[in-house]
Amino acid sequence: MITLITGATSGIGEQLAKKYADLGDTVIACGRNTQKLIQLAQHPQIEACEFDVTDLQAIKSATIAYTHFDRVILNAGNCEYIDDARHFDSNLFSRVVTTNLLSMGYCLEALLPKIKPGGQLVLVSSSVTYLPLPRSEAYGASKAGVSYLAKSLAVDLTDVYVTLVHPGFVKTPLTDKNDFPMPMAVSAEKAADYIISGVKKRRKEVHFPYRFTLILKCLRILPLPLWLKLAKGLSR
Ligand SMILES: NC(=O)c1ccc[n+]([C@@H]2O[C@H](COP(=O)([O-])OP(=O)(O)OC[C@H]3O[C@@H](n4cnc5c(N)ncnc54)[C@H](OP(=O)(O)O)[C@@H]3O)[C@@H](O)[C@H]2O)c1
Repeated sequence: MITLITGATSGIGEQLAKKYADLGDTVIACGRNTQKLIQLAQHPQIEACEFDVTDLQAIKSATIAYTHFDRVILNAGNCEYIDDARHFDSNLFSRVVTTNLLSMGYCLEALLPKIKPGGQLVLVSSSVTYLPLPRSEAYGASKAGVSYLAKSLAVDLTDVYVTLVHPGFVKTPLTDKNDFPMPMAVSAEKAADYIISGVKKRRKEVHFPYRFTLILKCLRILPLPLWLKLAKGLSR
């Protein structure tokens, strides 16, 4: 099996790359961090592939030698918070939406035609999409786009299985900078286990840790004004 993973140089993607490689897949580990890619490629089952997911031509050039994939996992992403919504930072908004959402379009154009019939496409979104949360205007909007994209692709793609991933909090370099409590946070290793298991079962949605995502899914049925009141409390 040939598995391509974006964002494989850190956090969840790195654990996915190592675990799929240990399971015997040929893993194409993608990222921008050259040193980390060299380190990953020490594993006999891992091949390094360096590109920026926001650069369509770079994705196409870096993957030109690959004719087909069994599984493509689009996991690369970044998170920045809007600290002052009243003075909206459109550069920050653009950076986050470009890295998390527009990149998906570039990766899909370059990689989707190479997924074998019966193969799998996995899009990593976030459980932030279940409810509007403080300071998440940019990150949440970008991930809401990813979730919609994945669901729409699942309607249209007839010979590729699509899995949408909604992680709760995962301890990685991305969340190390968070200055707020992260309830029920799991390790990147555990997150990779959840994803691998769900992808193996060809689940339409993989969400974890279940207790956390279940709470969010229940809160989602609250009337919006009530949730907004509760959410304002979270931001104080
Ligand atoms: N951690 C959480 O709690 C959590 C929760 C929900 C969803 N997620 C999502 O899970 C995914 C992985 O997050 P993580 O926590 O593992 O983060 P991480 O440790 O910061 O890893 C992010 C990865 O994305 C890659 N990346 C970022 N921008 C890129 C770009 N322009 N071009 C190419 N690669 C790029 C990075 O590679 P290079 O630095 O090598 O470019 C890195 O490998 C993200 O989509 C994130 O939004 C995470």
